[in-house]
Amino acid sequence: MSKRWLREKKRDYYYRKAKAEEYRSRASFKLKQLNERFGLIRRGDKVLDLGAAPGGWMQVVKEIAGSSGFVLGVDLAKIRDFGLENVKSIQGDFTRKETIEKIKEILPSCDVIISDASPDISGVWDIDHFSSVELCRSALSIAEEILKPGGNFLVKIFQGEHTGEFFGEVKDRFTYAKMTKPEASRTGSAEIYVAAKGFKKRFIYA
Ligand SMILES: C[S@@+](CC[C@H](N)C(=O)[O-])C[C@H]1O[C@@H](n2cnc3c(N)ncnc32)[C@H](O)[C@@H]1O
Repeated sequence: MSKRWLREKKRDYYYRKAKAEEYRSRASFKLKQLNERFGLIRRGDKVLDLGAAPGGWMQVVKEIAGSSGFVLGVDLAKIRDFGLENVKSIQGDFTRKETIEKIKEILPSCDVIISDASPDISGVWDIDHFSSVELCRSALSIAEEILKPGGNFLVKIFQGEHTGEFFGEVKDRFTYAKMTKPEASRTGSAEIYVAAKGFKKRFIYA
């Protein structure tokens, strides 16, 4: 069995499973597995989902957080409306100030921030890694603004030379942080997730 064969088989399996269970994306299973392992999202949580289209992770958050929870998805692409009061989305670039202002209007504070955002792939590994780290840092800086003390954080990163540095930045701000890869993540893919719990809010005095 070649690596490629295994990779395609796994991809096919989760693709069919997502269709059968009416998830908008295969990625739903990654969040399910990560949440089972780390308990990042709980019933009643308010969750910000960055890079959320087409909405597979939002569906999983909706299930876990339940009707007393809330999820706001943000993506460059439009996210098809779920028609629910507690599931909202914004179309925009979360690295930009105007989008962050819109996020804060809807969600001035939240319990969990998750990001599955992937940059446009250039094919040049260093560039793609660097763009991914930039997205991760934007997610972390949004956390500084709206994540509640004790809150949780999950972010996807394309591995490369700055992964360790970014992980250090996360470790400084949370009581627990771990680099991890869910089973549903493609075999051989360079993506990895940073899961962190217990946000240590720093109070900034003007
Ligand atoms: C792998 S997909 C997310 C899949 C999603 N978790 C799901 O389960 O349906 C990555 C997304 O990141 C989004 N993205 C990348 N950069 C972004 C940015 N700066 N602002 C908002 N979304 C971004 C892309 O548009 C893409 O839809």
